[in-house]
Amino acid sequence: MKSVTSFVCQQCGYETTQWMGKCPECGEWNSLKEFKISTSKSKTSLSKLKTTNATPKKLDQVQYHEKTRLKTGFLEADGVLGGGIVPGSVVLLAGDPGIGKSTLLLQVALSLSSKNKVLYLSGEESEQQIKLRAQRIVKGEKNNLSLLSMTDTDDAVSIIEDEKPDLVIVDSIQTMESEALTGLSGSVGQVRYAASSFIKIAKSLNVPIILVGHVTKEGMVAGPMVLSHMVDAVLFLEGEKNTGTRILRSLKNRFGPVDEVGVFIMKEDGLAEVKHPEQIFLTKGNDTSPGSVLVVTMEGTRAFLVEVQALALYSKLPYPKRVVSGFEQKRLELLLAVLQKHGKLPVETMDIFVNVAGGLKLSDPAADLAVCLAIFSSLKNLPLSKTIGIGEVGLLGELRGVNFIEKRINQAQKLGFSNIIDSSKYRTLNNVLKALQ
Ligand code: TYD
Ligand code: MG
Repeated sequence: MKSVTSFVCQQCGYETTQWMGKCPECGEWNSLKEFKISTSKSKTSLSKLKTTNATPKKLDQVQYHEKTRLKTGFLEADGVLGGGIVPGSVVLLAGDPGIGKSTLLLQVALSLSSKNKVLYLSGEESEQQIKLRAQRIVKGEKNNLSLLSMTDTDDAVSIIEDEKPDLVIVDSIQTMESEALTGLSGSVGQVRYAASSFIKIAKSLNVPIILVGHVTKEGMVAGPMVLSHMVDAVLFLEGEKNTGTRILRSLKNRFGPVDEVGVFIMKEDGLAEVKHPEQIFLTKGNDTSPGSVLVVTMEGTRAFLVEVQALALYSKLPYPKRVVSGFEQKRLELLLAVLQKHGKLPVETMDIFVNVAGGLKLSDPAADLAVCLAIFSSLKNLPLSKTIGIGEVGLLGELRGVNFIEKRINQAQKLGFSNIIDSSKYRTLNNVLKALQ
């Protein structure tokens, strides 16, 4: 068998015929690994497939109906996808191991399979294991779901070609491998080859394919940027395992909005949609305990009320602790510096803990004020639990306006909160702190 040697960066997937110490694409050192790629034809007829569908069409001859999108059975998931699954599209569902990707997709597969032909390919679990899981989710319903436990990319592609299902789920892309490549399953070469094989078959047969991708330690999908560049949409399922809340988020979507979120909760019988997600991020803690402040955060086009909790206490350590959950550590350090310099608070001598309730990761700059106020509330023993803080805090201690402020305020008022602090009333963080004392 003839083969060519190629060097692939394990970080970004850059490919070259020559070994280099540093990847010219992403700048990573020693990340190029050697792959032997066989030049003989792989088992499938991908090259033959290329010729099908190859006549150019006039734009107005191209058929597209919104109703051709497959509905997942979850309004929350359809919303994230932009209205359902587009035929021929390839969606990557990424997330930590054990977060619920297989559960979500099995539910989608079961729901769709009453009217459609769905093929669930699993390289992770046996057919029996999937059946057991399915029995937890639905009891005794008839469905048209086909399961296949397999890991060979080329075989999977030929099965899709033969079966021509309405939806294919590949769980997971990291378990797929082809004999045409030397690398092990999960290596960038194999993952890339598998993804591009599935993309080709999806496009040529107009079958949508959902690929599951586990997130690696670095917090990215294996063969990171590579896969997200190749597929049509990238969805992330995230959440803290102990809270049960799961957030489905679109990071890229060629057929819909990005940064849109859907909220679910993990139950005994699978994932369930959350009817009123506006308020699931509130704890039912004591109203009078200090250290809790609310913020209305925007996730895509939706506004959620979220509780930020903080604990500030005198430290015995030369370098006091800064522990965050659901908020960025660097951002916390910056806010602490502002609180110290402009708010004259002795935070440099204190251990500070910040937690976002309900497992949401807050990246909205509007949360700055709520984080500062929660720390202030804990430090001064001043309960602020019915207070909503919305605003970005600048290095000079100034309070900045944020986008969608009207929508945020409306949401807060709708849920019965009227004590809202934002940049329309106060120019600086210090003004706010003074007014609260
Ligand atoms: P899973 O879908 O296997 O995660 P992933 O595919 O992302 O690795 O989810 C596994 C977890 O979900 C496991 O800890 C058990 C839990 N779970 C439930 O709580 N309820 C259920 O109905 C199911 C099927 C799983
Ligand atoms: Mg799984």
